Amino acid sequence: MFIAMNRFKIAKGFEAGFEKLWRERDSYLTDEPGFESFALMKGAEADDHVLYASHTIWADKQAFTAWTESDSFRKAHAQASAPKGTYLSHPNLETFEQVV
Ligand code: HEM
Repeated sequence: MFIAMNRFKIAKGFEAGFEKLWRERDSYLTDEPGFESFALMKGAEADDHVLYASHTIWADKQAFTAWTESDSFRKAHAQASAPKGTYLSHPNLETFEQVV
C-alpha cells in the first residue's frame, strides 16, 4: 500500500470554490493500474486558511509514479484552475510507504 497526500492551504472565503472545483472535475483515476481510492479531506482551520488534503491510495509506489507520468495526470491538471487568491502557498506533497 502507498499513500500520496497533497496538502493545500486555502484562503478563508475560497473554500466553497475550491471544493466545487474538485466535485465537478473530470476524474481519470479509476482506470489507472494500481489505483485504489481517492478522497478530498478537509482539515484544521487557522486564522487565514483552511487545510485540505487530496488523498490517494495506490497498490504500491510504482503505481503512483506511473500515474504522475501519465496522460491522466496531465489531463487532470490541465482543467480549470482555481481563482487567484485561492492558495496561500504551494501544495505540499507527502507520500507514505506501508511498513507493516
Ligand atoms: C505530484 C504532485 C500532485 C499530486 C500527487 C496530485 C494529486 C491529484 C489527484 C489525485 C487529483 C485527482 C485527479 C483525478 O481525479 O483524475 C488531482 C487533481 C487536482 N490537482 Fe493535483 N496533484 C499534484 C500536483 C498538483 C499541483 C501542483 C496543484 C496546484 C495547485 C494541484 C491541484 C489540483 C487541483 C485543483 C485538482 C482538481 C482538478 C483540477 O482542476 O485539475 N495538484 N491532483
